Amino acid sequence: MDYQKLVDEAFIASENAYAPYSSFKVGASLLLTDGTIIHGTNIENAAYGSTMCAERNAVFQAYCQGYRKSDIEALAIVGSPLISPCGACRQVLAELLDPYTPIVLGCKDYYEVTNIQELLPRAFIGESL
Ligand code: THU
Repeated sequence: MDYQKLVDEAFIASENAYAPYSSFKVGASLLLTDGTIIHGTNIENAAYGSTMCAERNAVFQAYCQGYRKSDIEALAIVGSPLISPCGACRQVLAELLDPYTPIVLGCKDYYEVTNIQELLPRAFIGESL
């Protein structure tokens, strides 16, 4: 798979970041099995805790459109410098992505591929209940 294209899409998404407080623009792009690409970006708030991260916005948008984890081929998340997803996003991704779905972490000239099993081992998920 050409992850560079997905990274490029995530950078396009980041252009719509609303980040007046941190000035840190994050972009996410989700590739679905039907070829659809869904963008997400971070949307900040004056009440900082009400901010929503880019990757959660992308995955939530896919679910809102009726897609589910089996429809998700890969997720790219980009920032400058290279971003590593926050803890809240890891918890959400553990619920909404398959454990080994590729997660591409990228910055301008570099990307690496991981997955949520690696980012959040021994996650608390529904099967734990
Ligand atoms: N941010 C994300 O969009 N994703 C993450 O995984 C970490 C942080 C955003 C939230 C906030 O708008 C900015 O980066 C600085 O924390």
